[in-house]
Amino acid sequence: MFVSLLAGLSMFTVRGASNDQLEVYSWWTGPGEEEGLAAMAKSFEGANPGVRFVNAAVSGGAGSNAKAILASRLLANDPPDSYQRHAGLELLDDVRSGKVQDLSDMYREQDWAKVFPKGLVNNLTIDGKIYAVPVNIHRANLIWYSPKALKELGLAGPPKTWAEFLQQADVIKAKGKTPLAVGPEWTQKHLMETVLLGELGADKYERLWSGGISWLSPDVTSALDVYTKVLATSDVKSAAGDWQPQLDKVFSGSAVYAVMGDWSSSYLEQSKKLAYKSDYDVVASPGTDGVYDFLSDSFTLPTGARRPDLARKWLIECGSTAGQNLFNPLKGSIPARTDADAALYHGYLEWALQQWRDPKMRIVGSLTHGVVANNAYNAEIDSALGLFVQHGDQGKFARTVEQQFRETQ
Ligand code: GAL
Repeated sequence: MFVSLLAGLSMFTVRGASNDQLEVYSWWTGPGEEEGLAAMAKSFEGANPGVRFVNAAVSGGAGSNAKAILASRLLANDPPDSYQRHAGLELLDDVRSGKVQDLSDMYREQDWAKVFPKGLVNNLTIDGKIYAVPVNIHRANLIWYSPKALKELGLAGPPKTWAEFLQQADVIKAKGKTPLAVGPEWTQKHLMETVLLGELGADKYERLWSGGISWLSPDVTSALDVYTKVLATSDVKSAAGDWQPQLDKVFSGSAVYAVMGDWSSSYLEQSKKLAYKSDYDVVASPGTDGVYDFLSDSFTLPTGARRPDLARKWLIECGSTAGQNLFNPLKGSIPARTDADAALYHGYLEWALQQWRDPKMRIVGSLTHGVVANNAYNAEIDSALGLFVQHGDQGKFARTVEQQFRETQ
């Protein structure tokens, strides 16, 4: 009797422990994406003995698959305990439909107003309440290349403008290589965003997202003309795979440039074992020197999370110095906190941190990664861009997105 009682107790303890889990949802799978998350998961489990970190990541860069699956889970009131969202207007729907909880109390307890940049916190605040915890800062407007390949092609350096890129593209094509590698649809949108930024400049780029200039204006029309030409130099017709295969084409030598965010640095250095400056190099995408097109990965506390107590602990880790120091060097991003240890960031990331902290740097928000457009508008841009890339009707694209801007605000 005594023995069976003990057995019953231990069974109870074991069952209790296995239920003790935190489900975290993101799109960080595969090389260059998963390492930082895995390090934080391990640290979380270490700090919370008996709690299992359930990594519910869904593959697909930029959340291309994860966001749709998350939407159906939220609709069915089956949220994970915490999920990834970008800072910016991407959060708006979740807040308006009551899917995420206000974290202002956590910000007060942790004194986070002092350590996160004001502009970033503004991008996490809706109607005076703060809804997510930022773990990093990424930069979108970058062009990646192999310095050796440029030398072999007789190119003095990466292009400073898109006009220069188009001149280089002729030289590159004549030598039988693809000037620009692209990947799936979201990478084509990422490219469009950087061409718009490079051609319009930061002021007009921002005004485009607030409705201050029209998609049908002469400036935007000529920026889209450039995008059309740039895309024509790429391998868009045969583009497949995600952003890693896109970069692979550059470093295997079939293509020369790729425009991509700085998660690339983690992939190139840690997975491909390439060295910054000698094997790979990167500069601001053409026309955007002095501008930081930013995005920030952040985590939320969903309404109806099964373990809000554990989710809060997770969010505190995401926002902590220790968590950010662990995550960012592996993820290929810089810390969202202003007080994190700069000595941990080497190679590309050292440069990124200097750029981000440069008081003269102009900071703008990413379209593709959730900052400047709400989800409905972003989805309309996706559909219209898919058709534009397929059929090349630039005028139709501009008219559609101009109209959709007004319909989705
Ligand atoms: C972004 C995300 C980055 C990186 C990238 C590629 O949207 O913010 O952390 O994961 O997608 O998947």
